[in-house]
Amino acid sequence: MAKEVIISCSGGRHLGKKIARGLRGKHCKLVVERFPDSEIKVMIPHDIRGKEVYFVQSFYETKLGDINDKLIEVLFAGYTARELGAKKVSLIAPHIAYLRQDVAFKKGEAVANKILAKVFKVFDRIYVVGPHLHRLHSFKEFFPNAVKVSLDEEIAKFIKRRVGGCILVGPDSESEQWVKPVAKKLGIKYVILSKERFSSQKVKISGKKIKEKKIVIVDDIISTGRTLIEAAKLVKGKIYFIAAHGLFADNALKDLKKIGKVFVSNSVPSRVSKINCVEAIVEVIK
Ligand code: R5P
Repeated sequence: MAKEVIISCSGGRHLGKKIARGLRGKHCKLVVERFPDSEIKVMIPHDIRGKEVYFVQSFYETKLGDINDKLIEVLFAGYTARELGAKKVSLIAPHIAYLRQDVAFKKGEAVANKILAKVFKVFDRIYVVGPHLHRLHSFKEFFPNAVKVSLDEEIAKFIKRRVGGCILVGPDSESEQWVKPVAKKLGIKYVILSKERFSSQKVKISGKKIKEKKIVIVDDIISTGRTLIEAAKLVKGKIYFIAAHGLFADNALKDLKKIGKVFVSNSVPSRVSKINCVEAIVEVIK
């Protein structure tokens, strides 16, 4: 009997079965119900006593709720798994929410990721794909139980297969942490630009202009798409946008597609989720 039980939460149903196959574990879906007043109820439909349980949850909006509902879901599920006697309880969160809020910019602002780290202590391990580090240097600084799953290898292989010879561009100083290793794996050059953000929609990117046959702009997250759209104004050539997580708020995908080709991983499912994150997750857990 498999000792691992992989439980797909509402934002992990596109990945759960594949991860279970990779880990040779049992798979089931977390039962999630919603009451008319919008409260949710979750139920683990499997005997997990003495088992190693992995909940799979990516934080993005689905029919079953938004990212905040997803948070409540995994907390209820995690604590319930403990009560049911699971031997080990882990969370696989390919895309985790609230990592970007890592300091209080104004007095009184909540530092969301530190609060999240406290309530997530219910999990023995939290596996996160390409976690976003801004002002902190190590994921462990605030999430001691978190394990980073890097997509550098998958992104490099994808670029080799689908793009070929090119130059990599990082839209801001933080992007060097994922652009540099990918460039190194491919043995190609990269350029890092700098970014000033004034609001969600207003971004200014500066740096030297780049002219090449093929240019791949790499970021960790695409949300409004403004970062990549503004970065593209500094480059001339055939443009590709590649990111680990495609959240695509409003018309972001449509707007980016007018400028270049867009590819993201399947941490969040979309029409352009062509980079598979499952193998990298399974490798790290094994
Ligand atoms: C933040 O600096 C991140 O690395 C991304 O550049 C950012 O989250 C992208 O957001 P948007 O698509 O809204 O510009």
